[in-house]
Amino acid sequence: MNLFDVYPLFNIEIVKGKGCHVWDTEGNEYLDLYGGHAVISVGHSHPVFVSAITEQVNKLAFYSNSVINSLQQQLADKLGKACGYDDYALFLINTGAEANENALKLASFHNGKRRVIAFRKSFHGRTSAAVRVTDNPAIIAPVNEGLPVTYLSLNDPYLVEAELKKGDVSSVIIEGIQGVAGIHVPSDAFLQSLRRLCTKYNVCLILDEIQSGYGRSGKFFAHQYAGIRPDIITVAKGIANGFPMGGVLISPMFKAVYGMLGTTFGGNHLACAAAIAVLDIMEREKLIDNVNRTGDYLMKELRQLPGIKELRGRGLMIGIEFEQPIKEIRTRLLFEEKVFTGVAGTNTIRLLPPLCLSMKEAEEFMNRFRKVISTI
Ligand SMILES: Cc1ncc(COP(=O)(O)O)c(C=O)c1O
Repeated sequence: MNLFDVYPLFNIEIVKGKGCHVWDTEGNEYLDLYGGHAVISVGHSHPVFVSAITEQVNKLAFYSNSVINSLQQQLADKLGKACGYDDYALFLINTGAEANENALKLASFHNGKRRVIAFRKSFHGRTSAAVRVTDNPAIIAPVNEGLPVTYLSLNDPYLVEAELKKGDVSSVIIEGIQGVAGIHVPSDAFLQSLRRLCTKYNVCLILDEIQSGYGRSGKFFAHQYAGIRPDIITVAKGIANGFPMGGVLISPMFKAVYGMLGTTFGGNHLACAAAIAVLDIMEREKLIDNVNRTGDYLMKELRQLPGIKELRGRGLMIGIEFEQPIKEIRTRLLFEEKVFTGVAGTNTIRLLPPLCLSMKEAEEFMNRFRKVISTI
């Protein structure tokens, strides 16, 4: 049986990781400024993370959501404290798309409405409702088209109010920082307007913090720069450092009803053990402070480089947009300088390193990056 060929692959197989470094089958060592697509939060193979999973799998990997799993409550307690939402409730699933799927459903159950407002260039996942609110027609299949969605430009509250006034909107969904679009930060004033408008028109505000959350922006959630509290927050990626997991943080205004949401694998014992270890490590190693330190350094150094059209982002979520396509820069970084980076569109390099990136590693990245840029 062949694999269904949907990914254009680099001819590299990564077989080992440690901190912010990974190794391929040939023994080449790479500096990881990509974090496996913003997934590795506390670093590859962190010993506390490894022993938490190992201990758990030796006891029990999985049992169903029909019995008590006290690890879920432990995780909810720690997460509530870490992010400042201890009055919210947590629903656990396995991926980011599922988190958004459940968030959109919950909003619609709550206010009985259907239409969703999303934003241009948004990415929210690939399942039915999540992909429908994603602004990319190429990945929306006819079977996904049922949900009515209106895509609006970012940072224009007047457009949002004109739609909410019509009275048929269930939710507004927005990324804390747009990732796939190339790291576009919604203005604090815009997020504050969204909060005010959603309250005024009884519409649920959903913050997708799947890529921008869990400390990546320099605060636990990117929307916390704007000082707002959304009705629903979705998380995944860094939550369990590579173990598949997603979560929906739900404000107290939503009433839980038995059976309204559900999942087989969500919140399983192994995923919870991984996610608890991640929060413990983040706290013990003060990783959010580290994100601010190394993120500020990278921004400062990158600002001095020639040829950059625009530099965007917060913390360790950085978009470097060039005038010209970046394919050669990225390929040379990978194959000559042994540095993994991400990409957005054709002209933007995305940096999404593990949150434990040290100053020495940040400096090392800058040296290798400067070398490539200077010879392009
Ligand atoms: C902002 C955002 N939302 C949702 C998703 C979907 O997450 P998953 O691939 O885990 O379904 C992603 C993945 O890149 C994302 O960046």
